[in-house]
Amino acid sequence: MMQQHPNYQIINVDSLTYAGNLENLKSIENNPNYTFSKTDITDAQAVDTLFRQGVDVVVNFAAESHVDRSILEPEVFVKTNVLGTQVLLDAAKKYGVTKFVQVSTDEVYGTLGETGLFTEETPLTPNSPYSASKAGGDLLVRAYHETFGLPINITRCSNNYGPYQFPEKLIPLIISRALSDQALPIYGDGLNIRDWLYVEDHCSAIDLVIHQGRIGEVYNIGGNNERTNLHIVKTILQELNKPEALMTYVKDRLGHDRRYGIDPTKITQELGWKPKHHFETGIKETIQWYLNNKEWWSRIQSGEYQDYSTKQYGDR
Ligand code: DAU
Repeated sequence: MMQQHPNYQIINVDSLTYAGNLENLKSIENNPNYTFSKTDITDAQAVDTLFRQGVDVVVNFAAESHVDRSILEPEVFVKTNVLGTQVLLDAAKKYGVTKFVQVSTDEVYGTLGETGLFTEETPLTPNSPYSASKAGGDLLVRAYHETFGLPINITRCSNNYGPYQFPEKLIPLIISRALSDQALPIYGDGLNIRDWLYVEDHCSAIDLVIHQGRIGEVYNIGGNNERTNLHIVKTILQELNKPEALMTYVKDRLGHDRRYGIDPTKITQELGWKPKHHFETGIKETIQWYLNNKEWWSRIQSGEYQDYSTKQYGDR
């Protein structure tokens, strides 16, 4: 956003829980148009103080986002993703904004069978505590539009990948573990399908929605890159020249959605969005980034992540 719109004043609000990392934003920390506020979005008073400065647009990226963690501890997901969204909506309603964009996920649509794609009309049938909490937030956003006329958009994207992704997600998890010659946990039969989207293509879509999205509308964002988990893992192993023997089939994730696939026709036709990154090159660039930034992810692995990893994968 700062590159595309250098005159915008951006306030970054983050409570810096386990995945928040100010190191990721070093390059902009001294920019006079950028402010950081360590604030929890469930803290209504703190959020009110922020809005009092005058805010035009809210983009709600703040979320607990990891499905496996939501199976271990659902409560914080409801707090941040549902209650936190309501706190932001109330402040936006009180002070007035030109746009409230809710950044959501295709997981609210549940799972697909072998055919078909998620459209904006697909009914919401979330299957995990995480996706149920995101669906709850989305429904509140929709309700604030219908009841109070708040100018909103909801975006629903598929799986993101790229630099700086926290190493609990499949792609950075496999890269970092393969580089350390650790077992690579494959849930179930490894044939679940995800639709991969390069992070900057997601960002360009959100930028378009902020500026051109029709008020009250939902936009699905996906790059038509459906791949099985096994394909992803084998591609990474090949690129890193590591043996497939590292792959370890483990107990399946509870309620594991089989397949996600986004139909991006609406955002493509209405807003002219087009992803720039092809998966085959994007994944290579991402692997290279993790190779070049081993210190970044090694530091993360030694903190809170170590406890989670022990709980989830039995690592010591
Ligand atoms: O679809 C968008 C969603 O993508 C976002 O809303 C979520 O915040 C984000 O976490 C992601 O959810 P997934 O559950 O699809 O991503 P994850 O990286 O956890 O898993 C991707 C696939 O890989 C999934 O089928 C489960 C599988 N998997 C994952 C992990 C962490 C494994 O087989 N082993 C693992 O250790």
